[in-house]
Order: sequence, then structure tokens, then C-alpha cells
Amino acid sequence: MKYLLGYDIGSSSIKASLLDAATGRCVAAATTPTTEMGMDVPQPGWAEQRPERWWQEIINATRQLQDTYGFEGAQVAAIGITYQMHGLVLIDAQGQVLRPAIIWCDSRAVELGNQAFAELGEAHCLEHFLNSPGNFTASKLKWVQDNEPAVYAQIHKIQLPGDYIAFKLTGQLQTTVSGLSEGVFWDFKNQALAQELLDYYGISPELLPEVVDTFSVQGRLSEDAARPLGLAAGTPVSYRAGDQPNNAFSLNVLQPGEIAATAGTSGVIYGITEAPASDAQSRVNAFVHVNSTPGQPRNGVLMCMNGTGILNSWLRRMVGDLPYDEMNRLAAEAPVGAEGLVFLPFGNGAERILANQPAEAALLGLNLNVHSRAHLLRAAQEGIVFALMYGLGIMRDMGVAVHTVRAGNANMFLSPVFREAFVNTGNLTLELYNTDAAQGAARGAGVGAGIYASVAEAFGGLECLLTETPDPALQPQYEAAYAGWQQALQHQLHASTISSSNLPTHVTQHAF
Ligand code: XUL
Repeated sequence: MKYLLGYDIGSSSIKASLLDAATGRCVAAATTPTTEMGMDVPQPGWAEQRPERWWQEIINATRQLQDTYGFEGAQVAAIGITYQMHGLVLIDAQGQVLRPAIIWCDSRAVELGNQAFAELGEAHCLEHFLNSPGNFTASKLKWVQDNEPAVYAQIHKIQLPGDYIAFKLTGQLQTTVSGLSEGVFWDFKNQALAQELLDYYGISPELLPEVVDTFSVQGRLSEDAARPLGLAAGTPVSYRAGDQPNNAFSLNVLQPGEIAATAGTSGVIYGITEAPASDAQSRVNAFVHVNSTPGQPRNGVLMCMNGTGILNSWLRRMVGDLPYDEMNRLAAEAPVGAEGLVFLPFGNGAERILANQPAEAALLGLNLNVHSRAHLLRAAQEGIVFALMYGLGIMRDMGVAVHTVRAGNANMFLSPVFREAFVNTGNLTLELYNTDAAQGAARGAGVGAGIYASVAEAFGGLECLLTETPDPALQPQYEAAYAGWQQALQHQLHASTISSSNLPTHVTQHAF
């Protein structure tokens, strides 16, 4: 028996999945830690995690897999990695991590990115990078240069979170073109490094690691890594991709017109285009997709909402750690629109769909005599859907047609209320598949190591478990609730402009 092993480095946990290479079926999975990992917030709007912790959890997850499902290390034919995007890991010449990782939802570099966008010229940035530098990895690196010069001086190479795990596995410091694009280190027009941005930020290209193909034998498991993992030295590491391109890959979303979604800590709707696409305010982003080649470009148009599952898990703690399925059952007890209770699901760093303004969560329309716990839970789920639909509107305005959306049968999509709100508000068909990110990474490894002769062969075990379509009786109710939510958003945007103009200038303004 031959297996493929996939690792998913998420923001709240690390997951490992083992696939039977012949059938493409998942035979075992492990998620660690059991309580969500959490982010360190040294200052409001910042978010850090320790890369060494990710590595420790990779070891724990692999050991757990071996305890629950007996297999020999030598039976693992290839390893694939998927990871939380846009993070910054700094490595010195001895291969040591220099400081905690500055992760995807950290907003400290927003101002630097805004300034670069204006000074390099918005039209120029959109034409070449398809994005504002925003608070993506290049801007985070510039922040370190400006604020921690002693640390910056010791950087040998930078790594994205998945690059770092690949480095721990193989000893090789590498990245991919897709990875460069997610950090805004890639010039789509010139098909080369984003030299102008590097020059503008004063960042040496020497700090960027070697580039390898997404699907390829990028390295082999070292003796040092194989020992704690209980795997065999020499096992190929043959795939790595950011969690959103990987989610699309895991759902076989590779061609223009196909759409993938996730609703984990963050929520994303992701479409494929051949021609370069961008939003004038960079509220929706575009990165190089896993199957892009210079001859056949494939870009992933990515709409990200930071405040998705993280709001639900926060609420879970607030309502006494109810199991998620119990929360979902309770949410269904309240009517569509939660009788006027509106949740704006922000509060996890600057929201790109709001043009990167620091955004707070807000609860509006609360009536103490009407609203119950069920209303609160429903308003949160609907609020997340409505925010995703607000972002979807921007994507549609960019010319991305969105009709049928594929997602893994996981996270918020497990909630009937969430699914119902999603299809009826967006006028969408939703297909849920028997897969997840770690399984996608395992399949990718099978392609990269040549165990599957084609991408099509890798999807042998992929099955649609559920198709949900809009209900004409419910659609008007969701339209009305969404209109109310949009009004609340405008009200909140307006209110915070007024209140922030009254604040003394030295007060940090967190409201959007
Ligand atoms: C995507 C994004 C998030 C992170 C979360 O652009 O920032 O989805 O990748 O892991």
C-alpha cells in the first residue's frame, strides 16, 4: 500500500491527512492542537504566531496519525503542504527563526502598503502586481526593516509559512511563483520579480529564496526531520500552495469559470481568470494559481473576509463552549433576518473588502425584549454570509461570473443556516465535496511526485456530497435581510467617520 501525506498549516490548527494513493481516498486524519492555537496580539491590529509551534504541531499530528492508523514511514510516497498565506517568517544564516511570524491578518503594514500604492502609482501597481502592496508579505518585510533594523540585518532568507515547514522537512529554503505573488513580490506583466516594489522598499532580492515549481520534487525529507516525525528520510516533498489556491485545487477548480470557497478562520470566494483582473481599490486580489504557466496563465481572483469562522469561534466561547452543531441547531430556531439583529463580522484586522480600513465587529438593532441566543447565533452566521456577498459583488463587478461554487464539506459550510443564507442571498448553487485542505495537499504531492500521471487522475476519490440551490420562497426574505445589513454597514461606516474626526489626533482609530 502506498500513501500520500498532506499537511495543512492553518491559523487555528495543523491538520495531517493520509490518502491511499491508489483510490485517492482519505484513510486517516489528525488535527492538533485540540484547543484552537490562537494568535498573539502584541498591539491591536497585529497578529503573530511562532513558526516553531507550527513545526511542533506537525510532529504531533504525524505521530497522532501513526497512533490511530498503523503505517510504515516508508509507505509514504510523497508529502504536500498547504498553508495560511501572506505571512512573514525570517530565517538567519544558521537556519534559525529571527522573530515570531507576522501572519496574514496582521495590519501593521497597511499604511506602508497604502503609501507604496500611491507613490508607485495605483495604475502601475494594478497593471504589474494586480494588487496594492497592501499588508501583504513585502510590506510586512518593509515594516521590519523600518522598525526592527537589528533583526532585518540578520535576515538570510524570508519564508512564507508553508515554505518554512518545507524547510524544516527538507533543509531547503525555497518558494514558488504563486508564493511570490501572494507576497506581492511578483510582476505579472513582466513575468519576473516585482523589481520596482523591491527597489521602492529598498529590499534586496537576495532575501528571497530559490523558486521551485508548485508540482515538483522540491526536496527530500532529511534525517533530522524524519526522526521526530517517524517517517522515512528521502521521502519527496512535492507540492506546496497557499491555502486558498490549494482549496481551489482540492476541489478541481483550475479553469476559468470554476469557483471555490472556504469558510474557515477567514472566508474566501476564489475564481480563475486567464486575463489579468484587478479591482481599482484592490479590495479583491489576484495571485498566481497553482496550474499557471507562462504559456497558459491562470490567475486566482481571491475575495477574502478575515472575520468568518473566527467570529463563530469567538461566539462559541461567549455562549459557554457549546458544540458547533448545537450552535447551528440553535441558529436555525431564529427566523431569516434574526428579527432585525445585524452582525457586522469584522474585528480580525484590516478588511480588504473595506479597502483595508481597520474594521471592528458590531452588533446593531439589538432589542433586549426580542432577541435570544438563537437570534445572536443566526445574526452572526447571516452577517458572515452577507459580508461575503458584499465582497462577491465586487468580484462580479470585476467581470468574474459566479454561479456554481464548490467547497469542502467543512467549517461554516456544515451549518444549514449558513448554506441556506449563502445560496439564497448570492443566487448561487453550492456543491460540497468530500475533501479538505490537507487532502488537497496530499493529492498535489501525488501529482508533483509523478505518482499520478495527470491532475485528472488525482481526483479519482473526489465526490460531491451535497448540492444546494436557491429557494424562490426564501430568496425575497434573504434579499430584505441583506439590504438591512448593507444599510447597517453604511450607517457604521458613516458613524465612525464622524466619531473619528472628533478624536484627538494621537488616538489610534480602530473603527472603520
Ligand atoms: C487569503 C487569506 C487568508 C489566509 C488564511 O488571501 O489571507 O485566507 O490565507 O489562512
